[in-house]
Amino acid sequence: MIAKLNGIGEQALKDVAEAGSLDALEQVRVAVLGKKGALSEVLKGLGTVTAEERPKIGAVANDWKRKLEGALEDRKAALESVALEARLQSERLDASLPARLPHRGSLHPVTTTTRRIIEICAKLGFDVMTGPEIETEFLNFDAVNIPADHPARDMQDTFFMGPGVLLRTHTSSVQMRAMRSQSWPVRILCPGAVYRCDSDATHSPMFHQVEGLWVDRDVKMSDLKGVLSTLARELFGAEAKIRLRPSYFPFVEPGAEVDVSCFQCKGTPQSGCRICKGTGWLEILGAGMVHPRLLELAGFKDAGSGLTGFAFGMGVERIAMLLHQIPDLRLMFQGDVRFLRQF
Ligand code: PHE
Repeated sequence: MIAKLNGIGEQALKDVAEAGSLDALEQVRVAVLGKKGALSEVLKGLGTVTAEERPKIGAVANDWKRKLEGALEDRKAALESVALEARLQSERLDASLPARLPHRGSLHPVTTTTRRIIEICAKLGFDVMTGPEIETEFLNFDAVNIPADHPARDMQDTFFMGPGVLLRTHTSSVQMRAMRSQSWPVRILCPGAVYRCDSDATHSPMFHQVEGLWVDRDVKMSDLKGVLSTLARELFGAEAKIRLRPSYFPFVEPGAEVDVSCFQCKGTPQSGCRICKGTGWLEILGAGMVHPRLLELAGFKDAGSGLTGFAFGMGVERIAMLLHQIPDLRLMFQGDVRFLRQF
């Protein structure tokens, strides 16, 4: 029996040493030391041996048990450290590699330019008001003195949504909303998208405008000039000057197109200035004194006589293109991050 035990013990030691994984090691343990393992099976025969031999065999069996348990423990620790080492190798990090920086977004030039215009005008007392992009034909055209057969309707090729409903072609559609929703004085600035059926390097079917409207007792053309000069200086620099050229918009009388002196060649006509094409001036907006018919339609009943106003409207992309020297309007709307990242 002792020989049998020794045989089992020797073999088990070998098996332990050869076990290549924790699973294999566990199988070896169960096979020798488990309830139905080889040692237990041999010890079942203890009843058949003499009382004298029994303690000796018991001592040998215990000896092997202890030895094997020790060997199992050691092998287990060795296998675990190999596994850990392998994991550390496979999950190795090089902390000295340069970090991959996340791409930071930036504000679109249309947004920054709009905000800049609002900021400047807010200091002059203008409140921001918005209106819907889907607008009635009435507010976009009729209410700003452009009746159905008026040629000015052709100047702004319109996207119609349905009978009497369209995508607003200008932010002047908000003028009557403003005048009808508040009592005078009205001093609002309306930024927003507008739509015209037009598309090339300088026209986009969707673009942005900012509309200004100031209605109060005795507002004069000189007030308009003052506001626009301030706006031009703040946007284009302290030396910027403006000039008003008579022009026609049905909702103002008199009406003007407003130019700002070229910030590149400082308004000195130079052949070769690419920004102003040598003219010294850049057209930036339309403006004028609110047409009396609009004030009538607005119905400021408590105002009596003497209520006047001015309005102006400008294209935000045009101003952003001038400020940032962006050569093609379409770049603004392509969503190319290489373009956007420059701002
Ligand atoms: N609504 C005009 C346009 O879209 C601009 C404008 C606004 C002109 C206000 C005069 C007064 O071209």
